[in-house]
Amino acid sequence: MERQNREDRPRETAPLDGVAVVTGASSGIGAAVARALSKGGMKVALAARREPALREVRASLGPHAEALVVPTDVTDRGAVKKLAGRVEGDLGPPDVLVNCAGVMYYTLMQNAHEDDWECTVDVICKGTLNTLGAFLPGMISRGRGHVITVSSDAGRKVFPGLAVYSGAKAFVEFVSQGLRLETAGTGIKVTTVQPGNVDTPLQRMSRDREALALYGEPTGARILAPEDVADAVLYAVSQPEHLAVNEVLLQPREEPI
Ligand SMILES: NC(=O)c1ccc[n+]([C@@H]2O[C@H](COP(=O)([O-])OP(=O)(O)OC[C@H]3O[C@@H](n4cnc5c(N)ncnc54)[C@H](OP(=O)(O)O)[C@@H]3O)[C@@H](O)[C@H]2O)c1
Repeated sequence: MERQNREDRPRETAPLDGVAVVTGASSGIGAAVARALSKGGMKVALAARREPALREVRASLGPHAEALVVPTDVTDRGAVKKLAGRVEGDLGPPDVLVNCAGVMYYTLMQNAHEDDWECTVDVICKGTLNTLGAFLPGMISRGRGHVITVSSDAGRKVFPGLAVYSGAKAFVEFVSQGLRLETAGTGIKVTTVQPGNVDTPLQRMSRDREALALYGEPTGARILAPEDVADAVLYAVSQPEHLAVNEVLLQPREEPI
């Protein structure tokens, strides 16, 4: 049988429907992802700790959007299980999980900002495991689901001043790789999106002035907008069934790794 020419083959794209859960949805990239998925036609559950900020994001989706605000601390395993129950009960079984909750502290290892280290591991590493524990079994039993984790270019390469953050992002990259290999054949897709610098409040939360002065100063390059990252998430979820977007590295043009 002759192969169809690429030009003749109708392009398949997956319709955007179903239910998405977005952690870190109160701000920055998570808020932009929630808006993009909602605009695309999905029901969206918005999870983060700050309820007023979540409500503002909810309002920005418009009155006809189907969306749920669930204040959730991703470091609290029980709270994340409750989030899963609320989503399933109020919106339906989740098809897409977007792990976007995160913190980023520039610190020098020698300055031993242990609270920042611990928070980084709690939110990024344990938080991601908590959402996987809460949502993955249901996805596997339904034979469909897409786990998307907003990782970082720091998950591919260590940045000085961001050793613990880079380690945490490498952790979620490796867990995602293992998850992808173990779930092949179950209907699950696993994507990591790896942005470089994005213009969000995350850029302004560091307290180690020495680390910031050495490694955290803006380069002057035009950095990404949260919507740029949301576009990559939309791209990943819009692909046909047989096509998995495993990793997307997105960087400001002038800041390659
Ligand atoms: N901005 C960048 O340059 C950049 C680059 C690469 C990767 N990323 C990654 O992108 C993700 C989103 O960051 P962003 O840039 O959009 O920053 P952001 O605007 O500061 O958003 C961080 C989000 O994480 C949530 N969060 C923090 N701790 C949480 C917790 N314990 N439980 C639940 N939610 C929590 C925050 O909500 P609450 O405070 O309301 O809980 C907020 O919604 C992070 O994983 C970050 O590492 C960012």
